[in-house]
Amino acid sequence: MQRILSGIQPTGDIHLGNYFGAIRNWKDIQDDYICFFSVVDYHSMTMPYKASSLRENTWKMVFQLLACEIKPEKLFIQSLVPEHTELCWILSCVCSFGELSRMTQFKDKMDQLKTQDKDSLASAGLFMYPALQAADILIYRADKVPVGKDQEQHLELARNIAERFNYQFGKEYFKSPEPLFTEIPKLLSPADPEKKMSKSLGEKHYINIFGDEAFIRKQIKSAVTDTGEPVEGKMSPGVGNLFTLLKACDNMTAHDSLMSDFTTGQLKYSILKETVADTLIGFLSPFKQRYTEILADKPKYKKLIQESSAEIRKEAQQTLKDVRELTGLMNLKY
Ligand code: TRP
Repeated sequence: MQRILSGIQPTGDIHLGNYFGAIRNWKDIQDDYICFFSVVDYHSMTMPYKASSLRENTWKMVFQLLACEIKPEKLFIQSLVPEHTELCWILSCVCSFGELSRMTQFKDKMDQLKTQDKDSLASAGLFMYPALQAADILIYRADKVPVGKDQEQHLELARNIAERFNYQFGKEYFKSPEPLFTEIPKLLSPADPEKKMSKSLGEKHYINIFGDEAFIRKQIKSAVTDTGEPVEGKMSPGVGNLFTLLKACDNMTAHDSLMSDFTTGQLKYSILKETVADTLIGFLSPFKQRYTEILADKPKYKKLIQESSAEIRKEAQQTLKDVRELTGLMNLKY
């Protein structure tokens, strides 16, 4: 069986864009591969953050992933496997300053800090972020990495690092990880359908999958449909987004019948919105139910993840032992 690694930052709540963009795919492939799914808390330290919320958000992400039916034995917390940082250091020494400087995510985040007047908070860790990501992937010798387009460059770097490491240390040790792209629906912000659904824009702009029903109904009811004059036969991004939601939640019957109303010019937005709201509430109710159950038994799930992290750590330790050997570092021998 091939090996898969993927990671997600503990950003707080999972929204529908995250779910359909990554997590549903994790769930669907988890039995077809040997999977390592990580909540990457070390990565979260690369931007200004509060220590008091990091641990809380890490557990929250774990519980929400479990509520999305990710199996606990596949899930681990990055900082419980400190070997990731050790490998990051070693890989950073076969990765050039220039390569890291060219990473677009790094440049974007630097700009973000600049515009927020937090220039001084741009850390060297932010610069190293892609080397840590390469370590995440290579440490388990992953064959494939499910990623979105935005992470392609980081994966390319991981491949280059792997090849350079193998060349430099004279052994085909690391595999070159391949991206695993899947068809994902593009969800837009209901409040501003010119933009992607995203948390950073504020709570109107994303649909929280564990969110309050009344709030979700309100979000859909007030979703922006047409901004200018509607052009006959041409669907606006906002209306398109509502159809995308129906499709993503697998309500094809409603999707197709409302689409034919649209084609014949008979579509009533109020009906479309009501259908979308009902579909979403129905789709999300099992998620909320599982989440409530998990939250009622937190210690049990924390223990499960501590155990799975310890189990997964053994693999990372074996890799580091080999890597220390190959690179001329020491291994403790009793
Ligand atoms: N950088 C990824 C993101 O922001 C998160 C991540 C960290 C990751 N390590 C990874 C993704 C390893 C895939 C593989 O989405």
